[in-house]
Formats: sequence, C-alpha cells, structure tokens
Amino acid sequence: MKKKLEQLEDKIKEAHLGGGEKRIESQHKKGKLTARERVHFLMDEGSFEEIGMFVTHRSTEFGLEKEKYLGDGVVTGYGTVNGRLIYVFAQDFTVFGGSLSEAHAEKICRIMDLAMQNGAPVIGLNDSGGARIQEGVVSLGGYADIFYRNTRASGVIPQISAVMGPCAGGAVYSPAITDFILMVENTSYMFVTGPNVVKTVTHEEVTSEELGGAFVHSAKSGVAHFSCANGPECISNIKKLLSYVPQNCEEEPPFVSDFIAPDSKILAAIIPENPNQPYDMREVINGTVDTDSFFEVHKNFAENMVVGFARMAGRSIGIVANQPAFLAGVLDIHSSQKAARFVRFCDSFNIPLLVFEDVPGFLPGTDQEWNGIITNGAKLLYAFCEATVPRVTVITRKAYGGAYDVMNSKHIGADMNYAWPSAEIAVMGAKGAVEIIFKGEKNLKKKEEEYIEHFANPYRAAERGYVDEVIKPEDTREKLISAFKMLENKVDKLPKKKHGNIPL
Ligand code: HXC
Repeated sequence: MKKKLEQLEDKIKEAHLGGGEKRIESQHKKGKLTARERVHFLMDEGSFEEIGMFVTHRSTEFGLEKEKYLGDGVVTGYGTVNGRLIYVFAQDFTVFGGSLSEAHAEKICRIMDLAMQNGAPVIGLNDSGGARIQEGVVSLGGYADIFYRNTRASGVIPQISAVMGPCAGGAVYSPAITDFILMVENTSYMFVTGPNVVKTVTHEEVTSEELGGAFVHSAKSGVAHFSCANGPECISNIKKLLSYVPQNCEEEPPFVSDFIAPDSKILAAIIPENPNQPYDMREVINGTVDTDSFFEVHKNFAENMVVGFARMAGRSIGIVANQPAFLAGVLDIHSSQKAARFVRFCDSFNIPLLVFEDVPGFLPGTDQEWNGIITNGAKLLYAFCEATVPRVTVITRKAYGGAYDVMNSKHIGADMNYAWPSAEIAVMGAKGAVEIIFKGEKNLKKKEEEYIEHFANPYRAAERGYVDEVIKPEDTREKLISAFKMLENKVDKLPKKKHGNIPL
C-alpha cells in the first residue's frame, strides 16, 4: 500500500506542475498567476475540491501521444467563496497554451452540468490560445459543447468569466455568452483573430493590446465589464460581484445585516441652479444607498450611463442611472446596450431595479441613426418592459421625450416613480418646443418662459399619477427603502410564450 500511496503522491505532484517549472516561471515573469494560484486566491481556504486531476488528452496526431500532461490544461472543481458553493474552471497556460482539447472541454462541461444540477454559479478563469490546433474538429466540437451549456445556463445560474491571459479564437466566445467579463490590464487580450491574421487579411498593423487589450474592451467595444490592474484585483472583483447575486434564478440575493446609512443631507445640494450645468450622478447614488455598497459595472464604457450593484438597508439592488456629467446623460447606442444588458441580468436573478433619471433625450445625428439607435434604444425599452422585479424610478432633473418613456416610466411597468422638485418632465426642452409650436414668429423669449413655467416641473406628471410623489432629495433613501420593502413580495408574470423576440 505504501508504494501505491507514493505513486498517488507522485501523480498529484506531477499534476500540480502543469506544463513544468520552466513554463510556470515564464508565466510568473509575465506578471501572471498560474491556474492553481488563481483558484487558491478565489476559494475559501481549504474549500477547493478538484475534479479530473488525472485526465489527459487522447490525441495521437502530430506526435501528441508523446506529450501528455495530467489535467490537460485546465483545473476544474468546486468549493466555496465566502461560504457559498461555486464551481470553477481555470485554464492552465503552461499546458499547450491553455488550448482546448476534447478532454479539456469535457472537464469544463462536467463542471457546468454539476453547477446547473445544483444551482450554483460557474466562474471561468480563462487563459487560452483557443481550440487545440493539433486536435482539429474535436476541439471545435468541444467549444460548441461549452457554448451550448453557457447558453442553456444563461439566466439559470450566474456565469462570470475572468480573462487572465491571451484568449483567442473560440476562447472568447464562451466568455461572451456569460454574464460578466473581467480582464486584467497588460496581460490579457481577447480577439477572434490575432494581430498576425489581421495583418494578412486587412493589412492593418496592430499590437495585441491595441486589438483586444483590457482598455479596448472595457472602454471601446464594451465586451469587458471590468478592467483590473492585476490578477489578484480581478479575483477580488469576482468575489465582490458574487456578494450581490443569488446562487440561481430561484433564490434571492444574499442579505447583509451590518450596513451603514449614508449622509443623505448631501442630496439637497447636488442639483445646480442652472439646468444645463452637469453634476455627477454617482454623488446621488452614494448619498442614497448603503455606505460603500455601490459597485460600478462597465465603468469605462458608455459613461453617459452608470450601472452597478448596491444595497439598500442590506438588500441587493441594481442601479441604472443617466450621467449628466458625460454627454449631458444623453441616451445613445452604447448606453442603451449597456443598460439593457444590466437590466436583463438583474431581472434574471431577482435583483430589484432602481433608476435615477436625468436625460435630455436620445442623441440625434447620422452616426446614431445609421448605426441603429432605433434597434439599440429598443433593447433598453424591451428590457425594462419585460422586467418583473420590483422597479422604482427617481427623476432628479430632466425626463425629456422618448427617453422619459424608456427610463423605467410607470407606463412600461415601473412600480413607483418619484420626482425631485427639480424634475422637468416634457416632450422636449423649452427652446426647441417653442421654435416648433411658434414657427416663424419672433420674440419667442416670453413663450419659452411660459413653456418652462408650465412644463419644466414634476407637477403635470404628478397630476396624472405618472409620478407617485414629489419628494425632497434628502428623503430619497427612506422613501426608497420603504418602497422596496412594500414591493418585496411582488408577483408579476409575463404572458405564456416560448420566449420573446428582443430586438437584438
Ligand atoms: C495548441 C497552442 C495553441 C493552440 C498556443 N499554443 N496556442 N497549442 N493549440 N491553439 C501553445 C504554443 O505552441 C506554445 O507551446 C504555448 O502554447 C505558448 O504559446 P506561445 O505562442 O509561445 O505564447 P504567446 O507568445 O504568449 O502567445 C499566445 C497566443 C499564441 C497569442 C495565444 O500562442 C497564439 O496566437 N495561438 C494561436 C491562437 C489561435 O489562432 N487560436 C485559434 C484557434 S481556432 P510550447 O510547447 O512552446 O509551450 C479556434 C476556433 C474556435 O479557437 C471557434 C469557435 C467559434
């Protein structure tokens, strides 16, 4: 038996070495953690249970039968994060560049199947050169098996993808189907085809960083929701993200009992006297939600919209807010896409929605029209209309035009709609309005003043019941806590259907 135990120990040691010490050293030199180090950072101490440590590939092509590594380039298993069950796979770049073989894919699929059967999140720590080129179509099949599971699991269990190294080809599409993507600055890339292929096909000369680095995807394409300074920061962000979400779509998000109320008095002084002057909507959010609970998502992308998680009296909420400090908070293609996706996530996982509204309307122009603001704006409209979680809106200032309807108005299913006395709710701004109504007339100043007097306030909407209450800014937190408590047991069901046809 002693010999057999020694053999087992040797095999475990071999598996722990992945592609060998030299490649581990090279991974460290690039400022990257190994797959096992990442899993160690993620999981509660001693909680990780590995599955499939001794799995190897079965390929005999291109001399692969002579090159086998225990685990075949991916560490898979389960454990706990802050005491809650999660499933994880971490690709090991030291083994064939973390590339995906048939056996590697089977390990990931097994984890995903277990996660679905047991209702717990899946965390993917990706670091992969894509399909294992030597294996040909079986590795493509392996990817497709994963995409299929990602899609079937969407909306059932939370799926979070960290991209922690160069991810090419198929390695980017599984993360793209999941709920959130985090990237690590300077060491991670995502692209369908790398710089060499780009040069051959389009003759563009571009570096990996320029093509698909963390900055590009978190600020320009919007593919990534978080850009993290390094591996440990990326993993802490995953843990933080998990703290706001339930284990699956049947559960409620976790409750935090030790919250601190913010100083809500600051809310009274945020809105400038001049309605055209910007202010930072994050100040409104931070003055309303539990202290230090606001966790912004997609921070660098479409900054005219702010989205993120927070807590109100210990309960998770999702915040969607126009940002007057950037492009006056206008709705455009990217901000609509960003908010729509976030609303869908929150609604999938029973996270109530809080909307702060200050929006001058949709961004006009050929760029927006030719790139589909109609379809993309409709995504946000559709996402709100379909959401059945508790939904509350606070109009802090402007609510103009179609944007009034879109930003979680009562007409599209918001449960409660509050307005501050500074709210202006109308079809359009006074200047534009009188120029249309009194076309050709001169001296429109007086008419403009009349329009402002009549419409640049919350009271016309309140008379109709479109606004439930006009509230003092400093009372906002208490009103919202009370409203969300009142809505705690809300039941709202969509009409029976196979699924809707969201304008994708
Ligand atoms: C097999 C691979 C591999 C792959 C990398 N390696 N990618 N092995 N299949 N796809 C191996 C290398 O041979 C090398 O082995 C080790 O991993 C490290 O690779 P390097 O190139 O030395 O590392 P680096 O310079 O950091 O570059 C990383 C990289 C590059 C950017 C990922 O390797 C690369 O471009 N790989 C190919 C990417 C690609 O085109 N994938 C698309 C596959 S098609 P040794 O033995 O030296 O350590 C695909 C289609 C799916 O994925 C479609 C689904 C929709």
